[in-house]
Amino acid sequence: METSILSVCYLIGSVCFIIGLKMLSHPETARRGNQVSATGMGISILGTLLLYRTDNGQHLHNYGWIAGSLVIGAVVGTRAARRVKMTAMPELVSIFNGMGGLCAALISTLEFGRLAGGETVLHLLIILAGALIGSISFAGSMIAYGKLSGKMKDLTFPGQQVTNLVVPALILLLSVGLLCGISVTPAILFYILLALSLCYGVLFVLPIGGADMPVVISLLNSLTGVATAFGGFLYNNQVMLTGGILVGSACAILTLLMCKAMNRSLKNVLIGSFGGTKAAALPGTQGTYKEVSISDAAMVLGYAHKVMIVPGYGLAVAQAQHTCHELEKLLSDKGVEVKYAIHPVAGRMPGHMNVLLAEANVSYDDLLETEQSNEQFPTTDVVLILGANDVVNPAAENDPSSPIYGMPILEVGKAKMVIVNKRSMRPGYAGIDNQLFFQPNTSMLFGDAKGVLQQLINQIKAL
Ligand code: TAP
Repeated sequence: METSILSVCYLIGSVCFIIGLKMLSHPETARRGNQVSATGMGISILGTLLLYRTDNGQHLHNYGWIAGSLVIGAVVGTRAARRVKMTAMPELVSIFNGMGGLCAALISTLEFGRLAGGETVLHLLIILAGALIGSISFAGSMIAYGKLSGKMKDLTFPGQQVTNLVVPALILLLSVGLLCGISVTPAILFYILLALSLCYGVLFVLPIGGADMPVVISLLNSLTGVATAFGGFLYNNQVMLTGGILVGSACAILTLLMCKAMNRSLKNVLIGSFGGTKAAALPGTQGTYKEVSISDAAMVLGYAHKVMIVPGYGLAVAQAQHTCHELEKLLSDKGVEVKYAIHPVAGRMPGHMNVLLAEANVSYDDLLETEQSNEQFPTTDVVLILGANDVVNPAAENDPSSPIYGMPILEVGKAKMVIVNKRSMRPGYAGIDNQLFFQPNTSMLFGDAKGVLQQLINQIKAL
């Protein structure tokens, strides 16, 4: 009876994960989707704690340890999630993901230690896969965290690409050896494999450029999902299996979508060094740019018929989303048609701009995707770019030597006038200059996005 109720709990958990994941795909339902998934997880955990019986029919007995871990995990997780700034979200995701990978690796290591001999090769394969993939994901996520938080730099050394091919080949070879029972000391071989996997996790993430980190984190998330699914196989636990498969496949799809949005192959992301710490061309080497004053910018915005706002990473850094919404409302009240042009990789994480603007209660109906925006630019009077750079860089369309060549961009140059707000002529994350800033219909409006937006609001009110 108890086992049947537990299976129902797992079924409810799995259904909640699927519904929650579906709801996450739209900003309006995302928050509730998260809650639905968390409820499913809660039901599954509670069911396991109260109803699970071991092979010899015993209930769980180490409740003290479990409760202690749950409390510590819940307190640390809640505090971290509450405190994290939106711009530091990828860092938090990489730490959480690393913990998931470590967990999967520890479970498999524990189960390896409990092998009594005589298990099937499939059983051993499941344990090994969980341990190795979990270790790679853990080590890789920790390096990703270090790089995203600025504590570590990209690191390349001679022969790195060869090493990154040799190490996984060695892992594969030794794993086959272990599975075929070639080793006389399987435990030592298992721990050597664990160590090699940890090394590979570090080695594979070390050289990847900073701008590509969100893609790598999504890939590592996918690996953690796969490792967890192996844990589900091991314990014949349906909810762990469903959860792992959902995370594994959803993150694999996300990884590919992000690559597609940047028009780059996954291979190029993994072995190229786009967005790394490379030298940018010196400011001013591409011609001269012109500046616009706050009062002139306020004038053209206030008397325009149609304005498109292009938010980017800088808007998120300045935490200027609320001020931006205030400007949008002010212009709308004056009869100006205002829309937002959202690029899929603007900011530093998938859906970054949607989340940021949703926080300020911007209407979803006013958010246009790249294709829709590009159709609207030719009939737009003023494009106001707020802390965006790479996603509006025409080099993606007309410079085959550019690292971002081929990436679909927001074609803001087609509007009558472009006002670019940023603090300096420094490049964006890809580390390349932007010809847009030197075009005749572009004017620079230097300053922190929040301050500039506030000044614009004050000036427009006085018009
Ligand atoms: P970026 O190209 O990174 O440019 C942001 C600009 O904001 C910078 O040039 C910076 O110039 C300006 N800025 C910084 N702080 C500011 C502030 N307080 N006020 C005003 N401006 C400020 O941003 P983007 O156009 O959003 O492009 C995103 C980049 O990240 C792309 O290269 C994309 O491929 C990459 N990426 C994104 C993702 C996802 S999923 N979103 C994933 C991987 C990679 P100043 O320093 O001169 O102010």
